[in-house]
Amino acid sequence: MPRYALRLRRFTPETRPDAWWQDVEVELDAHRSVLDAILEARERDGTLAIRFSCRAAICGSCGVRVNGRSGLACHTQLGEAAATASGGVIVVEPLGNMPVLKDLIVDMDPVHWAKVASVQPWLVGADPGRELEYEVAHETMVDVTQAMACIQCGACVSDCLSLEVDPAFVGPAALAKAYRFAADPRDADHEGRLRRLAEDPHGLYDCTHCFACIEACPKGVAPMNQIMRLRRMATTDHAIDDGNNGRRHEHGFVANVRRNGLLHEAELLTDSYGGRLHPRTVPVLLESLTAVSRALRRRKVGLRDALGHPHRGRFPEIARYVDEIEGRPERVELNLYVSGYDDEDPGAVASAPSGEDGANAATGPNPRRRRP
Ligand code: FES
Repeated sequence: MPRYALRLRRFTPETRPDAWWQDVEVELDAHRSVLDAILEARERDGTLAIRFSCRAAICGSCGVRVNGRSGLACHTQLGEAAATASGGVIVVEPLGNMPVLKDLIVDMDPVHWAKVASVQPWLVGADPGRELEYEVAHETMVDVTQAMACIQCGACVSDCLSLEVDPAFVGPAALAKAYRFAADPRDADHEGRLRRLAEDPHGLYDCTHCFACIEACPKGVAPMNQIMRLRRMATTDHAIDDGNNGRRHEHGFVANVRRNGLLHEAELLTDSYGGRLHPRTVPVLLESLTAVSRALRRRKVGLRDALGHPHRGRFPEIARYVDEIEGRPERVELNLYVSGYDDEDPGAVASAPSGEDGANAATGPNPRRRRP
């Protein structure tokens, strides 16, 4: 039986003020989980605290960081963890971005649950007096199925880089939950939800597209993708002109790519604020001078690239693509996660890749009308 060395991050405020490391060794098969190893260690030292319940990647209780990456202890095999361990030692720590209560247990209330509660995580019915169920077409629900797969483990919150910089950011888990309701055809408050999140300085536009939440999520929810869908709904479907400049930035970004063939970053700021001469742009340009001069000094960007147009004219077909897509009366949101059409050709379903929980992956088109 293989032996595995583990370094467990301990925090026992009742006896020591600071966190400390405990080294343990366990003898278990490679396919056994990191949670099994932690429980084995707890057999020898009953003071070790870990939260868990189902041991089957369902309840979301056992979120931890293994070798610096957040995930479920019960869903991480020892053999896999050892393969990514530096120096052969599997390092287990509590989740990040949340206060540690004891050992591997974090307080999810102030950061995770409070934010989920803030996005109104329930359906607002159009007719509160209605006694019959709402009937919805199957294909309209396909779009939200991926967000519904979330088990609230907090792995995405733990690895979110925006939350690290701005602890007030609503965060990936809560925003994925917000999409679940904002895109539900039975909900009667789509625009209100989107407007609140778009206007919140710590809301929709606080995500920096770092992909960390997508990599951390053990259930394939891809929270960042749900955030981008919320943005498309806010900007394209509901034309919400937010105070955070999110919609103008999106339009400026597309115009920039259309004009240059590839993104020309030096012009993105002016494009996002309405052009070089727009009164909104001047204070932002002045504010950015410090960052620009620092980037030039540290050679993160060269003068030629900063001021020139390295891509202009090289990809003329891009403008045609943009025009064609933007000229369509409807925007089609494709969900690549779950289909579940009852009458689907069984051969096609069998050949589609499988999502988490045995769901069949396929595209689910969800047309949405554009607003000017
Ligand atoms: Fe339930 Fe790990 S114990 S998800």
